[in-house]
Amino acid sequence: MNMSMTQPVSSPSHPVVRSLRVCRLGTALTGTVAVPGDKSISHRALMFSALAEGETRIVGLLEGEDVLRTAQAMRALGARITRENDGRWHVHGCGLGALHEPADVLDMGNSGTAARLLSGLLASHGIMSVMTGDASLRRRPMKRVMDPLAATGATFLAREGGRLPLAIKGSATPAPLTYRLPVASAQVKSAVLLAGLNAQGQTQVEEPVPTRDHTENMLRHFGAHVTVEETPEGGRIVRLEGKPRLIARDVTVPGDPSSAAFVLVAALLVPGSDVIMTNVGLNPLRTGLFTTLREMGARLDVTNERTEGGEPVGDLRVQASSLQAVDVPADRAASMIDEYPILAVAAAYATGISRFRGVEELRVKESDRLASTVALLEKNGVRTKVDGNDLIIYGTQGAIPGGGVVETHMDHRLAMSASVLGLVAENPVDIDDTVFIDTSFPGYFALFNNLGAGFAAA
Ligand code: S3P
Repeated sequence: MNMSMTQPVSSPSHPVVRSLRVCRLGTALTGTVAVPGDKSISHRALMFSALAEGETRIVGLLEGEDVLRTAQAMRALGARITRENDGRWHVHGCGLGALHEPADVLDMGNSGTAARLLSGLLASHGIMSVMTGDASLRRRPMKRVMDPLAATGATFLAREGGRLPLAIKGSATPAPLTYRLPVASAQVKSAVLLAGLNAQGQTQVEEPVPTRDHTENMLRHFGAHVTVEETPEGGRIVRLEGKPRLIARDVTVPGDPSSAAFVLVAALLVPGSDVIMTNVGLNPLRTGLFTTLREMGARLDVTNERTEGGEPVGDLRVQASSLQAVDVPADRAASMIDEYPILAVAAAYATGISRFRGVEELRVKESDRLASTVALLEKNGVRTKVDGNDLIIYGTQGAIPGGGVVETHMDHRLAMSASVLGLVAENPVDIDDTVFIDTSFPGYFALFNNLGAGFAAA
């Protein structure tokens, strides 16, 4: 039995704190589960259907806090959004260019994706809006979207350092943008493309490294004309024709590979485990973790591969494996950017010294994930080193000491990574707060308990 505890207490930054103690699991994880819907695709499904003419039905929408914030914001901007008892969501769009001016501040909670993507829409409609978020989101950089979007003709007023709250006076006649991304970011690419929807003419975004292309795929699904050219340097140029007629189209959201990652690594590390996850998204721009874990020696099989709603999906079978250290190249970072904290747990358990190259973008996630991942490991007796923009992890050959108190800094992926580390560490691991897991993975503990994890926090 895995002894765990929950202790709700109040705090000034958010109302409820749920701490948790996780002890080593003495039995295997086994069974078949379906992880919740993809967060990136869910945000986009709500935003694009809110701009389309007619009614979109969405199946498999992630009902995590982040996505619920997007639903709330799109309602405030004029879309009619309802949830049926069978779990389907219905969106009656207002039509492109017809967003209403919101009566109140738009609160995007913990969600960087919601804030960045929405900025593109707000900048390209002739409305005035103010956007804010929780303490984590208010620390994150918005300049990366404000800078390119200002060229549409919109004006922005942000806090020092380009932080939320942010006031946006959108342009009623936005100019189309041509922009080369200075960082590999699907959020920035998407913000620019979304601004281009309501601009006359062609919007063009060049990305030096390909990032997740859910925006491109789904805009096409709703009827926009989007082309992609590969550059000789390995990048991409995405072009969008402005003022498309967006028509409501049903959307099926696959399971989130970034959520599957936690179950996957837990099953690899807990001896004797054998787990199947059904209906996991397999977009090649999201599966860098699978490649990396296979390089480490993971027994990971994909079956029943198919395409659903324009995205590749399949079932994953994962069996406990003995893992070796890995050297992850920098050009793979974009395809696994959210998976480094949980990969760090796998590397800590593995044999040998791992290096994750070029992971500087981790510094601007829900927490400074480079610092918080280092602290997660160090506090539990695992040696690490940050060398420039590389993270080095000294594997323990299956003997993570544990015994640490982990600070999650309002970061869902830190909390989930710590819980997996606790399942295999030699001493109990205390997690200061697991509340933020609900932003991306509602039902996390219950799903793990169905596999035999025995968390008391379900
Ligand atoms: C996302 C893009 C990534 C990722 C985030 C979701 C998206 O952020 O970390 O969780 O849906 O576009 P960046 O674009 O900042 O890398």
